[in-house]
Formats: sequence, structure tokens, C-alpha cells
Amino acid sequence: MTAWLITGGAGFIGANFVRMAAGGAVDTLVVLDALTYAGNLANISDLVDAGRVQFHKGDICDGALVDWLFERYSFDCVVHFAAESHVDRSILGPQPFLRTNIEGTYVLIDAARRAWQSEEGHRFVHVSTDEVFGDLAPHDPAFTATTPYRPSSPYAASKAAADHLVRAWQRTYGLPAIITNSGNNYGPWQFPEKLIPLMILNAIEGRELPVYGDGGQVRDWLHVSDHCRAIMAVIEGGEIGGTYLIGADNPRANLDVVRMICRAVDAQLELTPGTSEKLIRHVKDRPGHDRRYALDATILRTKLGWHPRETFETALPALVRWYLDHKDWTDAVRTGAYRQYYERQYAGR
Ligand code: NAD
Ligand code: TYD
Repeated sequence: MTAWLITGGAGFIGANFVRMAAGGAVDTLVVLDALTYAGNLANISDLVDAGRVQFHKGDICDGALVDWLFERYSFDCVVHFAAESHVDRSILGPQPFLRTNIEGTYVLIDAARRAWQSEEGHRFVHVSTDEVFGDLAPHDPAFTATTPYRPSSPYAASKAAADHLVRAWQRTYGLPAIITNSGNNYGPWQFPEKLIPLMILNAIEGRELPVYGDGGQVRDWLHVSDHCRAIMAVIEGGEIGGTYLIGADNPRANLDVVRMICRAVDAQLELTPGTSEKLIRHVKDRPGHDRRYALDATILRTKLGWHPRETFETALPALVRWYLDHKDWTDAVRTGAYRQYYERQYAGR
């Protein structure tokens, strides 16, 4: 019998991962998720209703609950997605980021350390971000697993702290941990506070498209399904103590991404070409805004045989279609709290 714990499995990447894992051979899939504003049970409710996923609503900082879950299910593997994940929110209020991302990670790795007597048959995959490395100048080489940490935002600093804890628990206690650092993800079920879903929904609704600063910041975009397949490859063949950078070699400037979204929305809604681009507004830049990220995923490609399958050119228009087809979901996740956040973040910018 195999049992995996997936923290944050009702969030964007976690839900996509749960959906992928549910089609595989793992006997018991357990999701622990606090259902914060970013978590939505609807993302996986079909699997929960079908009995394929055991869902527990709870906080990763709750040590007693985490210990109880380890005892009850005897996990072979933990895939740790749960986090506060949005840079702009970390600037507005950093405290929940320190709590969930640092303290929550500590609670999980320490529970795993105490529950697992040996490395044999156990894996703790800590899902992290390229933002721990800070930003790159235009001609700097891409990040590798040995790039020094230089986080810029409270979010990135909290993820960096969590990565350090995981490495220390691996080195000192022999926790069978592996760290993955991926680039910016896009795909279905992403909460519309992040660049791509926010721009897609605003363009569909004819609202302004707020581009921070000059829009020349570069992100290395990765489709969420390619990210999830990479995590599967790391669980199957990754080296304990290893760090795997996950990137599709797909760097794009924000303004180019927004223009691509505009073209896709115009095409899907049969609008005159150029209609959505007129909604673009350059607004005040984000404080501490990282200029450029790029990842070198050579190790993942050569050692684990992973390759991205999706391309931006086809996946982005398909994603616009997905958001058009999931209006009930987008209406449900954009509650009053979302509108309040939106006002606070964008009004007067
Ligand atoms: P998300 O914000 O969509 O989802 C986070 C999930 O964690 C939500 O379901 C939320 O309810 C849950 N959660 C938050 N605090 C919790 C707590 N205290 N206890 C239990 N559950 C809690 O995030 P995402 O975009 O899916 O990111 C998942 C992971 O991947 C994060 O660790 C993030 O740092 C990392 N990551 C994300 C990206 C990206 O582009 N989205 C890129 C690289 C790495
Ligand atoms: P985001 O999706 O928040 O991811 P991250 O900050 O983790 O990279 O933002 C991606 C890029 O898009 C980042 O450079 C900030 C920019 N951005 C905008 O220009 N306007 C927006 O409304 C948002 C949300 C982001």
C-alpha cells in the first residue's frame, strides 16, 4: 500500500498535481489544505466525492493534526505545495507568509523526521520557486542549483527560509528530502490574482489591464502540467538531498505575454483585432520588482529525462478558452474578499 500526503492540494498547482496523481497507481492520496482565499475544494471535489482523494481541511502549522495524519496514513511520500504564494500580498502583509511558509514547513519536516525511521521508501518533496535566487541582469546566465540565494520580496524570503530548513533537516537528520524550484506557472485553476489569469479575465470583461512599470520584466513561464510531470519524475528518480530546477526555457517579457493574451481573447470573442490591447495601462511599479528570471533545467532533462510538452503559443489560447468555459468557477472564487483585495492593490496605482 502506498500513501501520499499532498499539502495545498486545493490550490492551483496542488490541484493539478492531485488530478494527475489520481490517475496513477498510488493507493491513498491525502490532501491537507486550510482552504485559504487561494484554496478551493471545487478544484478537486469530483475526486473527493468519488473517494479517490481523502480531504482534510486544516493548517500545516497545526503540529498535532500533522502528527495524527502521519500516524493514521503512514505516508511514503509528502509533496509540499501549501504556501502563501502571491508577491503583491506579501508586500501588503508579510506575516501570513512567515507563518505558513516557514513555520508550516518546519512542522511538516519535523513530523516527517519523527515518523520516518529510515530513508528507505520515503520521500519529502518541497516545492519551491526560482524567486529565492533574486533577479538576473539582461545577460546573466540562467539560475542553476548552485546559484546563491538573494530573495527580494517577503514571499521569496519566506520560501528561501523554508528551503534552508529543508536542506538542514536533510543534512542533519537524514530527512529524505528533495527541493524543486520552478519558474512562473500558468494553466487551469489558477487564482486570478496572478498575471496570466488576471489579464485573461480582465480582457474578457473589457476591464483595464494593469501592467506594472514598463512591462519589460521577464519571467520563465512553465505550463502547470509540465511542472506536475517534473515533480512526478523527481519522486520516481530524484536523488535525496538534490535540488531540481524546473523550467521550460520560455522567457517572456510581461508586456509580450499581455499582448498575446489580448490577441487570444480578441480571437475567441471574435472582436476586431487590437480591441483588447487598448485596455493596457502602465501602472506604478511593484516595490522591489525583480527584473528577470531564467532557469537552467539541464539536470532535470538529462538525469531524469523530463521535457516540457506544452508551448506558450498553443497553451495560452487554450487557457483563454478554459477560463471562458469555467465562468461558474471564476465567479465563485472572485468573492467580496477578492474585490476588496483588487481595490487595495490597484486603486490609484
Ligand atoms: P496557491 O496560492 O494557488 O495555493 C496554495 C494552497 O495552499 C491553497 O490551496 C491554500 O489554501 C493552501 N494553504 C495556504 N496556507 C495554508 C496553511 N497554513 N495550511 C494548509 N494549507 C494552506 O499556490 P500555487 O500557485 O499552487 O503554489 C503552490 C506551491 O508552488 C507554493 O509552495 C509556491 O511557492 C510554489 N510555486 C508556485 C509557482 C507559481 O507560479 N504559482 C511557481 C513556483 C513555485
Ligand atoms: P505574478 O503573476 O504576480 O508572479 P511573480 O510576481 O511571482 O513573478 O507576476 C508576474 C509578473 O507580472 C511580475 O513581473 C509582476 C507582473 N504583474 C503585472 O505587471 N501586473 C499585474 O497585475 C500582476 C498581478 C503582475
